[in-house]
Amino acid sequence: MSQLSVKHLLGIKDLNEQDIQLIFKTADNFKDVINRPIKKVPSLRDITIANLFFENSTRTKLSFELAEKRLSADTISFSASGSSISKGETLIDTVNNILAMKVDMIVMRHPNPGAGVFLSKHINSIIINAGDGAHEHPTQALLDAFSIREKYGDVAGKKVVIVGDILHSRVALSNIFCLQKLGAEVMVCGPTTLMPRYISSLGVKVEHDLVKALNWCEVANMLRIQLERQDIKYFPSLREYSMLYGLDKKLLDSLNKPITIMHPGPINRGVEITSDVADSEHSIILNQVENGVAIRMAVLYLLAGRADK
Ligand code: CP
Repeated sequence: MSQLSVKHLLGIKDLNEQDIQLIFKTADNFKDVINRPIKKVPSLRDITIANLFFENSTRTKLSFELAEKRLSADTISFSASGSSISKGETLIDTVNNILAMKVDMIVMRHPNPGAGVFLSKHINSIIINAGDGAHEHPTQALLDAFSIREKYGDVAGKKVVIVGDILHSRVALSNIFCLQKLGAEVMVCGPTTLMPRYISSLGVKVEHDLVKALNWCEVANMLRIQLERQDIKYFPSLREYSMLYGLDKKLLDSLNKPITIMHPGPINRGVEITSDVADSEHSIILNQVENGVAIRMAVLYLLAGRADK
């Protein structure tokens, strides 16, 4: 297979295993490119991409911008603050005005779940979801699974636990879909109040005891508490959360085997993970960031190739 089965990347749910393997194989090639002295290829030289960020971002925004530059695309970037959104313009009007400037692809982060799906029904452009509320963050899940594949050679059969605020996390949902499509076993771990009610229907194991979860897994993906999405208090204090669900070096060293530590960022050091764990030899957090550029290059390249199909 040489092309994706989808026209947009709105969520991992829409991809099949062949799509994900094709993205990985393409990313392998682009990872070679970005480690060369000349890090640029002309693949998207005639393509213009708009990066629309209606919600804050460091990693995803810069990683997409760099991926686009490495592919020689022309890019424009937009942040909600300082735009005409505050003057009452609708999302469709904003995007159609940007497309009128002859833009070919849209990369969008938005606080509302389903914003990318909504937009795909109303505009004529390729859309890549860079995170929509608590729904999906497909390129994060792809770079996470790619990093596990890089570390172990394969994702199939690996035991991965996702720890923390599962309820508000688009990273958790996209990771669950992606890892399962690739044949991994997935567990979620956290307090009952931070578990969605439908979680068991996704076919994951659910564990509330962090020590048991860590002793089960080969890889632990530690999530940040999404305080910005919490309208009520889900646990008494960050200190208590950290005592029950935070990972420190003492706990890591007490496990029955070494495990790999991941985090999508941004890290709240001392809450879900301590510095001596984040910066330890078990952590592949910065490898995830590096792989994000190659994965986003692959997604942009493959979707641009589908533009007229
Ligand atoms: N992992 C991630 O989405 O980080 P940013 O919010 O900084 O983009």
